[in-house]
Amino acid sequence: MTTSTWELGDRKVNRLGYGAMRLTTRPLDRDQAVAVLRRAVELGVNHIDTASFYFSPALSANELINSALRPYADDLVIVTKVGPGRDPSGEWYRARPEQLRGQVEENLRQLGLEALDVVNLRIGAGLERGTGSIAEHFGALAELREAGLIRHLGISNVGTAHLAEALSIAPVVCVQNLYGLGARDAEDDALLDQCAEQGIAFAPFFSVDRGAPQGVVAEIAAAHGVTAAQVLIAWTLHRGPNVLAIPGTGDLGHLEQNVAAAEITLSEEEMERLSPGSGPGTPARS
Ligand SMILES: NC(=O)c1ccc[n+]([C@@H]2O[C@H](COP(=O)([O-])OP(=O)(O)OC[C@H]3O[C@@H](n4cnc5c(N)ncnc54)[C@H](OP(=O)(O)O)[C@@H]3O)[C@@H](O)[C@H]2O)c1
Repeated sequence: MTTSTWELGDRKVNRLGYGAMRLTTRPLDRDQAVAVLRRAVELGVNHIDTASFYFSPALSANELINSALRPYADDLVIVTKVGPGRDPSGEWYRARPEQLRGQVEENLRQLGLEALDVVNLRIGAGLERGTGSIAEHFGALAELREAGLIRHLGISNVGTAHLAEALSIAPVVCVQNLYGLGARDAEDDALLDQCAEQGIAFAPFFSVDRGAPQGVVAEIAAAHGVTAAQVLIAWTLHRGPNVLAIPGTGDLGHLEQNVAAAEITLSEEEMERLSPGSGPGTPARS
């Protein structure tokens, strides 16, 4: 992979990463899941997104990462998230601030780590942007960072006011929000640009899943000899140098395509056709 890199906290990561959620939401056997994780790293992925609540009756994303990739390569950055949780029966709950330590420790145990590289505070109950103050929860995570359990903090499913609130409490290295050509609004665009200005990574999720109107995407994909999914990923990378793609897949062929999407250069004219008025974006390889 020759894609450009980003300093995530004190670690340099390739901008094309991998999201582990799909390993447990689509019917996969364990060997396939392990093979996908190992191939991702072989292909140069060194930024993996996960959570302790990514589990099915048969598989846990954190446990799969642990078995497939330990001992971890020095350059591998594993990003996890807390806030939501699932009890052993799979029922969801929202952690109170004092419960976040237990969630962090659960991630440490499952991943076999002594400190977590990056922990995102994920707010809100659904996919819509979360509301309300994050101060108490983020403050609790900041204390765990001070205690050495976490190296860097991020926030997820948030708006611009949340970023300002979090930054008043502790440094923020990344924001992870639902974002893609087919799933974004003015606040998402503003938040991505604000993160770029402040040197904060923006990791979009569902950029492939939420798709986009097929016409222009299909035309541009055909012109480059790539798939629509690859154009959707390339588009996110062109939105700013701080965008870290984390497409999820349980399919080895899709994984190869997703990694290759980091090599696609979209012209200013193509960016304008894909998202009129949002500007030319920034070349993926800047
Ligand atoms: N912070 C949050 O609240 C939050 C929420 C959701 C997800 N996330 C994170 O973000 C990551 C990305 O989200 P996601 O995995 O749900 O969605 P995504 O990356 O937008 O899309 C994944 C879906 O697209 C398919 N796909 C992937 N690559 C493809 C390709 N090259 N061609 C065709 N289809 C392709 C996958 O199916 P196949 O398996 O068949 O390839 C899967 O159904 C997750 O894995 C998770 O780590 C975070």
